[in-house]
Amino acid sequence: MPVAATLLNMTGSQHPMDDFPVRPLRFDLDRIDDSELVWSRSCPHFSMFINALGLHVPYFERFLVRVMRAHRGELTDEDLLRDVRKIIGQEAHHAFNFVALNERLARRYPGIGALDAAARSYFERAAATRSKRFQIGFTAGYETFTFLGGMIILDRYAELMEDAEPHLRALWVWHQVEEVEHGAVAFDFYQAFYGEQEWYRRAMVLFAFAHIALETFRAYRCIVRVEHGRFRDRLRAWRFFAGFAKDLFAASLPVYRRDYHPSKHPICNDAQNRLAIAWRRHEAAGGDVLNLDRQTVDTMLAHPAP
Ligand SMILES: [Fe+2]
Ligand SMILES: [Fe+2]
Repeated sequence: MPVAATLLNMTGSQHPMDDFPVRPLRFDLDRIDDSELVWSRSCPHFSMFINALGLHVPYFERFLVRVMRAHRGELTDEDLLRDVRKIIGQEAHHAFNFVALNERLARRYPGIGALDAAARSYFERAAATRSKRFQIGFTAGYETFTFLGGMIILDRYAELMEDAEPHLRALWVWHQVEEVEHGAVAFDFYQAFYGEQEWYRRAMVLFAFAHIALETFRAYRCIVRVEHGRFRDRLRAWRFFAGFAKDLFAASLPVYRRDYHPSKHPICNDAQNRLAIAWRRHEAAGGDVLNLDRQTVDTMLAHPAP
């Protein structure tokens, strides 16, 4: 990465998507007790929800890596090619850590192991058999929601995970920050191949939303059954699910505009992402991002690294 670009990123004065590094992080999930898998004390339903949503994500991430590797040789834009190399690096590291988390979830929740295996084979089949347009379009549609989810969660950090198990909080903050950083790459990749087919891009955004919602619903059902015995508690859990799905869908509405680009999405700007900026500076300055306790985050936010 050019030095000037690195400095701009560290000060947060640059758009978060303009340049981003690959961070080869490995989270030690063996330190976590099974009871801590509901890892947010601020909002336990959020941790159940995001564990459910994340279950199939590593298989999508491997799919993205496979699709981009297969077709990047046809790109002529050097900047896009550079970003494609970086998103491949980021997503490969995400998948490694999330597969490890899935193993922990499967040990606690009956049914999760089968869903994990089904998600793995769905994406392996899609990578082997679906058309090039489907693969690139689905990747772009899907990345719409990892990007928007990243923004929503970082914006609602205090409500969703201010008080939380520090390793799993660290895992999710890292993932959300990087999803925002590379949030335009899959869109640009689609544009490079099928830019004139706007209707297909929009259709794939809808398709991806339906896919994510269904996968999350199935996994959440397994988790809620174990965590909540009483009908009233289950009802509250499902209310959270419906509310978050609605917020995610509402955030996706600007995506259907003809002149849409992820870097111009109304919720993506530096001023609204204090935590992402502080986290990037902390990580770039050599701070520990594998174990984020509350005091570390408070200090990061109050006294960001220079
Ligand atoms: Fe990811
Ligand atoms: Fe991503």
